[in-house]
Amino acid sequence: MARVEIRGLRKEFEGTVAVENLDLEVRDKEFVVLLGPSGCGKTTTLRCIAGLEEADGGEIYIGDRLVNDLDPKERNIAMVFQSYALYPHMTVYGNMAFPLENARLSEREIVDRVNRTAKLLQIEALLGRKPAQLSGGQRQRVALGRAIVREPTVFLMDEPLSNLDAQLRVVMRAELKKLQKDLGVTTIYVTHDQVEAMTMADRVALLNKGLLQQFDPPRIMYDRPANRFCASFIGSPPINLISCDVRDGGTLDAGDFRIPVPEHLSECVQRTSAQEVILGVRPQDLSVSAGAGTDADGVVLYRFPSSSVPAEIYTTEPLGDSTILDLKVGDKLLKALVGASFEGDAGTKVIVRFPPERVHLFDRSSGLVIR
Ligand SMILES: Nc1ncnc2c1ncn2[C@@H]1O[C@H](COP(=O)(O)OP(=O)(O)OP(=O)(O)O)[C@@H](O)[C@H]1O
Ligand SMILES: [Mg+2]
Repeated sequence: MARVEIRGLRKEFEGTVAVENLDLEVRDKEFVVLLGPSGCGKTTTLRCIAGLEEADGGEIYIGDRLVNDLDPKERNIAMVFQSYALYPHMTVYGNMAFPLENARLSEREIVDRVNRTAKLLQIEALLGRKPAQLSGGQRQRVALGRAIVREPTVFLMDEPLSNLDAQLRVVMRAELKKLQKDLGVTTIYVTHDQVEAMTMADRVALLNKGLLQQFDPPRIMYDRPANRFCASFIGSPPINLISCDVRDGGTLDAGDFRIPVPEHLSECVQRTSAQEVILGVRPQDLSVSAGAGTDADGVVLYRFPSSSVPAEIYTTEPLGDSTILDLKVGDKLLKALVGASFEGDAGTKVIVRFPPERVHLFDRSSGLVIR
């Protein structure tokens, strides 16, 4: 069993706190992605687990063993880095056999394992080549192969796909996910790419400034962000965030528009007595329909559904399969994602509805979700 458990991990570099009080439990066979912006402590966390960096505080368990004082090679982990770090003078075969020779496996076992792994990764035809004779994607596979042959209990991967072009990344991302499930090896994978995290992970651990913000399956990260940072880091185009004041416990007043506090949140809003909030709504969740009737003074001429406000299209950004609308509501700009068949150009008057069940509220001072 290869559960990885981190309790209260802390790592500091000359006064810079890279990781602060991190708790993380990765289940056996699980694929966990460490996600976050540059400098948030992802690599440092991984290097502490690998034993390449000494933790300043906290405990790291691999399986049931406390590994803080174990050498990297005693931890039975294999690490794949962004730079593949292949040995340039060795063939693909030599690169893959090297860790096994170091571990003093028999010649027969080495040949067996290398061949089996090469077949799995479909690089059998490349075994005789040197790294310089390989494409980026092929080198990536060899680096993976070198990790897999060792049959470790845990894979640690630090942005292993980031040197590949966009198309190859998409292919490799699916392959790597499939491979991880087939091999059933507990994996901790670092990326700053939210799409990679969302598509590959069983659970995503989102870090910011060395602090864990949320640790949940992708769907929950998207649907139920724990705070304002999580809401804005995940999702594309990014979530709309609008400062609002709560009026009489029942209305969200954004200045340029007002909508009712969603019913399922009204009790929480009253309980927290937060008066200053941030309204969050994803572009995918806003619904846009044509034709708000307003007269020359901006007075709405007919009733429209509740939680809706009149808006004007500022620009459109067609993506082919869908279109991003930039909508002007008073002085505010909101993004909405609509179907490609949506008709309307800059200047068109529309009605924007905030579906109450898809509205998020965050406390403006703490950033924490209100729910
Ligand atoms: N060896 C080091 N010496 C000093 N500071 C370091 C060292 N390694 C990391 N840091 C600092 O620790 C913080 C976390 O760095 P880390 O490399 O873990 O970030 P990251 O999340 O992997 O970022 P990226 O996405 O850019 O790779 C940063 O502020 C970084 O400057
Ligand atoms: Mg890094």
